[in-house]
Amino acid sequence: MSTAKIAPVMGSSSAMNMIGALLEQRAGQQIAANRAWRIETALKPLLRARGLATLDELVGQLVAARTGELGDHVVDALLNQETSFFRDVAVLDTVADAAQALHAANPQRKLRIWSAGCSTGQEPLSLAMLLIERGLMDSATPPEIVATDISPAALSRARAGRYSQFEIQRGLPVRRMIQWFDSVGGDWVAKPELVRRVQFRQHNLTADCAPAGRFDIILCRNVMLYFSTAVRQRVFDLLATGVRPGGLLVLGAGETVIGMTEHFSPTKAFRGFYEAADPAAPSAAVLG
Ligand SMILES: C[S@@+](CC[C@H](N)C(=O)[O-])C[C@H]1O[C@@H](n2cnc3c(N)ncnc32)[C@H](O)[C@@H]1O
Repeated sequence: MSTAKIAPVMGSSSAMNMIGALLEQRAGQQIAANRAWRIETALKPLLRARGLATLDELVGQLVAARTGELGDHVVDALLNQETSFFRDVAVLDTVADAAQALHAANPQRKLRIWSAGCSTGQEPLSLAMLLIERGLMDSATPPEIVATDISPAALSRARAGRYSQFEIQRGLPVRRMIQWFDSVGGDWVAKPELVRRVQFRQHNLTADCAPAGRFDIILCRNVMLYFSTAVRQRVFDLLATGVRPGGLLVLGAGETVIGMTEHFSPTKAFRGFYEAADPAAPSAAVLG
């Protein structure tokens, strides 16, 4: 084992502020002063790879760079991509219940689900497993799962469906691990018949229009925690343009629409979920 000490990254407060501002400008994510240590920790590998000693040197390169590519790498490194298989399993079970109910109410219409801020893919792949197990994917009009994230690095991992032993053990029951993953070189790789159920696409919730077409269910879990109130409101506006009338929005534990938007309100049919406001439209509540 190496005994060499890794020198701490030095960064002036103005360098930290500039990097924080870049993250907020590109992704809407704010880093509070008491979490500024994250900047140093998250950017250490990037500094090392570019032979830089300080965040100030990195900022110098960012300012000098003609393209935004370095900025993309910085933003990518700073994003919190914490996720796991079957995270908040009761919520995912309820999503599957809702999908089943909506599908049964209109079996000819293709049900569309959007996992917004899908990180490295565990959320949409968990959902795909549940929908396959419930037989929905065998129907003549199988549901479509679109999964998006701002991070190209997270998306390329999601598309590869390759997870470490640590990642696979977090939340994935052994039965499902054996059924849906192959052991490859110490990692676990999702079978093509699972990964092909999910369409992964890059999408920035704070800058892009909603993906084409309207969705019956949108999951946007643990993405907005570090958005400012104004950005959150804008993102709710965007989600409202992407949801079908009477469609459902699912947020993370501790996230709410209350006081943030008029576009969604709590629905009784599926506990903890929100319904797209459109009094003229058929309501998801009638399906419960
Ligand atoms: C904490 S993870 C949550 C992953 C998953 N939804 C879950 O709950 O397990 C948040 C994800 O949101 C993505 N994200 C952050 N800002 C975003 C933005 N402006 N547009 C799209 N995705 C964003 C991050 O890249 C990250 O993968």
